[in-house]
Amino acid sequence: MTNADTDRVGEILYESFNAGAAKHGYARKMQRVETGKSWAWSMLHYGSNELLIAEVENRIAGICCLNPRGDLGGVGPVVVNPDFQGYRIGSQLMEALLNRAENLQSLRLIQEAFNPASFSLFYSFNFMPVANLLDLFLDGGAGQRLEPCSDVTELTAKDLDAVHTYDSPRSKSDRRKDLAYYVRWGKVFVYRDQSQIRGFLACLPGSGSVQLGPLLAEGEEEAGCLFQHASAVFKERDCQTRVMARDYLLVKTLMGFGFKVYCLDNLMVRGAWRPGQHIEAFGIFPEGV
Ligand SMILES: CC(C)(COP(=O)(O)OP(=O)(O)OC[C@H]1O[C@@H](n2cnc3c(N)ncnc32)[C@H](O)[C@@H]1OP(=O)(O)O)[C@@H](O)C(=O)NCCC(=O)NCCS
Repeated sequence: MTNADTDRVGEILYESFNAGAAKHGYARKMQRVETGKSWAWSMLHYGSNELLIAEVENRIAGICCLNPRGDLGGVGPVVVNPDFQGYRIGSQLMEALLNRAENLQSLRLIQEAFNPASFSLFYSFNFMPVANLLDLFLDGGAGQRLEPCSDVTELTAKDLDAVHTYDSPRSKSDRRKDLAYYVRWGKVFVYRDQSQIRGFLACLPGSGSVQLGPLLAEGEEEAGCLFQHASAVFKERDCQTRVMARDYLLVKTLMGFGFKVYCLDNLMVRGAWRPGQHIEAFGIFPEGV
């Protein structure tokens, strides 16, 4: 993918995700084509992504993205233009992507559970569902009554090392560049007890909603405070996040804030995987949806 492709790739992201959702009776994922275009722009201009494009007669037919983070790689988005679906372009993109991922211990991605096409595609490449996620949204204004949390502060570039040191042994991945990106273009909130870091939440305001995630926290209480703080800071904006369905108390807290379920997702992994000991939420990097 090059600079010249970003607008068209953004349109394909917008068209394909919305067509996929409509086909299964779900609300459109992106309200405006600009959301797809800014997503494409951020994928291209950010970090070490492998961004592959499939072309048919000089037209962009599909894209896929690999985001290596240490031994672990995030995959996605994998998207084929609706005019070209069903011709094995998705399969060819996945083959090309896996060739570039040979030295990674494991790959993970997020799959919308309502979509049998993407489930079959990923399953056929040995991605196994390991956990259910809830894709949650909060309408702008719903966080109006929420107060910022006193244990939470905003990360500045100079604190980046401390948060990276907290994150990498727990997430088992190297997300330093992600954190730097989120600090630059969004906000990273940190939960501290005394001076001890007990969690963080990265937030990325887009042209549509604010993406809340990745998050990593010691427990549901810390995670709840981080979400409360972010929802209060971005109270005029629509927000979106993906959390583990098993984290029942956190989900209840978020629903108390006004979050609603958009859809169920599968976390799918190829290679080594062990359930994490911490609370996690997922944003658009490194696992694009
Ligand atoms: C998912 C997607 C990328 C598949 O692309 P594609 O080029 O149409 O897929 P392929 O033609 O290579 O098919 C791959 C496999 O998917 C499965 N598949 C494709 N369409 C299917 C459908 N409608 N129902 C069930 N399985 C389907 C089949 O198992 C197929 O393998 P087979 O040909 O050996 O039977 C495409 O449908 C898409 O862009 N969807 C919208 C965006 C999205 O949801 N992306 C995934 C999340 S990141």
